[in-house]
Amino acid sequence: MASSLPRTLPASWYCSKPLYSLEQRAVFLKSWYLLGPVTKFKENEPVVYEYAGVTLTATRATPDDASIVVVDDQGKHPKTHLTPTGLLFSTISKAAPSFHEFFPGLEDVLSKVDFRARPYRRSISYYGDFNWKTMVDGYQECLHCAYTHPSFSVLYPPASYAVVNHHNWCRHIADPEKPDDGLFLYFFPVCTLNVYGGGMSQFRVCPTEEPGRTRMEFDYYNVEAGEKFEEYYKFVRQVAIEDYELCEKAQSNLERGIYAEGILNPVKETGVAYYQQRVLEMVLSQHHEDKQKKLLKQPAYGASSESTSSQPELDSSSYSGNSNFALHSNAARAKTGVAVST
Ligand SMILES: [Fe+2]
Repeated sequence: MASSLPRTLPASWYCSKPLYSLEQRAVFLKSWYLLGPVTKFKENEPVVYEYAGVTLTATRATPDDASIVVVDDQGKHPKTHLTPTGLLFSTISKAAPSFHEFFPGLEDVLSKVDFRARPYRRSISYYGDFNWKTMVDGYQECLHCAYTHPSFSVLYPPASYAVVNHHNWCRHIADPEKPDDGLFLYFFPVCTLNVYGGGMSQFRVCPTEEPGRTRMEFDYYNVEAGEKFEEYYKFVRQVAIEDYELCEKAQSNLERGIYAEGILNPVKETGVAYYQQRVLEMVLSQHHEDKQKKLLKQPAYGASSESTSSQPELDSSSYSGNSNFALHSNAARAKTGVAVST
């Protein structure tokens, strides 16, 4: 029974610099990011983003939404996608697939909301002492909600909270009795969008070079200004602070070296299992790709044949292996035997 239950990523993946370096190439360079609703971009007021070491600048030239241009720190234009109802997405590298390949079916769901209807009001950004996955773990389940978010739990009873997984995106259903009541989305790997009533918020969980440190960026939108907006802001900030404190404690526990990995709740943590599986698949795929490239660089035979045959599974200069990496599900994963040491 236990062997069929989804398992977490190893704790070492939350604390390892070499693993983050692998995630940069495996996950971040191959993904899409929500920059925001078009209302965020005012004429000639550049908005700067940074994802996994790549800086993007989005600038609007005219009132026409199509005039919003994104450039990276090399002056190159990444792939971008503007949805019909006003959300702007971008990649940080050409290595990412097309938008529709990365997020199949997402645009149908987005088409039901006019994202231009809620004016941009405010942003806030700060650092936290936790890995990016520690925050996403918490966003992708609501088992912690009753304890951590007493005010939120009055509005959204955690007992009925559900997460529906799609390819690279997840929809959170706060109340299954009212599936059209609000829109709560997670975009793999690090973006979210939450629309309810006249309010809308998005946050980005931006990794840094330090695996135990993350920059949180929030943008808030609301049809209301003034006091009514401040009421909304106070409520959503309270929930965000509660999550922040929980993440710092969870990260501290992950770094103690006692907890290694565990079993996920097969009903209440399907969102966590899904996104962690995507991280795992992409990291393993990159590892395989790196290994193939390395082998191709080796001479066919001769002086280096000995070193080829004795090549360790993982190069310690980039990330080192250990044998306890055997994550949930199947032999293919276990066979790969990738692990990242701290
Ligand atoms: Fe939370």
